[in-house]
Amino acid sequence: MDRKVTQQVTRATFDEVMVPNYAPSAIIPVRGEGSHIWDKEGKEYIDFAGGIAVTALGHSNPTLVNVMREQAGQLWHLSNVMTNEPALRLAKKLTEKTFADRVFFANSGAEANEAAFKLARRYAFDHFGPEKHEIIAFNKSFHGRTLFTVSVGGQAKYKEGFEPTPGGIKHCDYNDIEQLKAIISDKTCAVVMEPIQGEGGIIPANIEFAKQVRELCDQHNALLVYDEVQSGVGRTGTFFAYEQLGVTPDVLTTAKALGNGFPVGAMLATEKAAKSLAFGTHGSTYGGNPMACAIAEAVVDIVDTPEVLSGVAKRHDLFVEGLKALNEKHHVFKEIRGMGLLIGAEMIDSLAGKAGEIIKAAAEEGLFALVAGPNVLRLAPSLIIPEQDIAEGLARLDKAIATVVANNKAA
Ligand SMILES: Cc1ncc(COP(=O)(O)O)c(C=O)c1O
Repeated sequence: MDRKVTQQVTRATFDEVMVPNYAPSAIIPVRGEGSHIWDKEGKEYIDFAGGIAVTALGHSNPTLVNVMREQAGQLWHLSNVMTNEPALRLAKKLTEKTFADRVFFANSGAEANEAAFKLARRYAFDHFGPEKHEIIAFNKSFHGRTLFTVSVGGQAKYKEGFEPTPGGIKHCDYNDIEQLKAIISDKTCAVVMEPIQGEGGIIPANIEFAKQVRELCDQHNALLVYDEVQSGVGRTGTFFAYEQLGVTPDVLTTAKALGNGFPVGAMLATEKAAKSLAFGTHGSTYGGNPMACAIAEAVVDIVDTPEVLSGVAKRHDLFVEGLKALNEKHHVFKEIRGMGLLIGAEMIDSLAGKAGEIIKAAAEEGLFALVAGPNVLRLAPSLIIPEQDIAEGLARLDKAIATVVANNKAA
């Protein structure tokens, strides 16, 4: 057998063997524990990024590691020709905790959204006919990278060069009800929104806007689809963010934190809507597999407790106070906003486009953080990050900001 045996891999290997659609950092982490990560050289980092709002219960969470080990020794995979106990238990919990009556399991956020958008089309087709197929979504929204989800997403750059994309999709500005009124009609089958726009810059929905979107959907028999892929599973301080808006969707998608890093997504729906994904209309080989569902069940059990959810609110305050103090010192942010532990700090105009420089400098100081577009520094740490890690991470961010400010003065 003529196989190349590759033992040594480095960051340079990425540029040799990986499709160049990502540009990963030079750091290759090899181990994580709680809110700490170590790279190959043994350098330690504090994690305010959470794998992009995923590792909500920290790295190598001991309870999750045990659940995973136990399930791994029992049953990994069946396919949906058979059901399995972890999937049924998880679905029961998700329906008990939410508005939803039914669950479809997927493997990612994009796949959960794909299911939701297909359901919206099929529901309208079943109840009102093929003319009612338009989906309305919001500018700057992000719903995933499949062809349907980039088409519903409100960022043109993700569609460029992939046309023709699916049709029958309209966009308008978030938090602007007049624009929605102007384009919604009886042809609309669904309005899709994030209760807080994540990738678009950490922009929470106005409560009044959210209520009026619900009313317009009802007037036009359109389903209201909430994309809680990023905001769900405790991230905003309630199990789902919709609970804080006082608006109930018909369909909700979630992923990211649901598996704490093990790939799993879910679409939740009312009984009435779910009926339209009848036998044979949609499916997935892996969706709802016992490994993913056993882990997600444990995540849900831990997150949906008063200790964890009230802890999110407390930590939100610590982060916001900390960022405000850094801002008083360095004058770099024009707004600090967000919900729970999904926090954005928008750069002042003279530092527009520099959020990426901050996260690079932060990594040098031993801190992982994120951006949400070029102007917004985004933090999405573990929901149970210890207070001393918050303090230490903010101290490292302080140094990183000082470096960026100095570099930009010198430039
Ligand atoms: C709101 C939202 N929807 C969908 C997605 C896509 O999820 P995934 O990358 O798991 O497909 C993301 C990912 O960032 C997201 O933030």
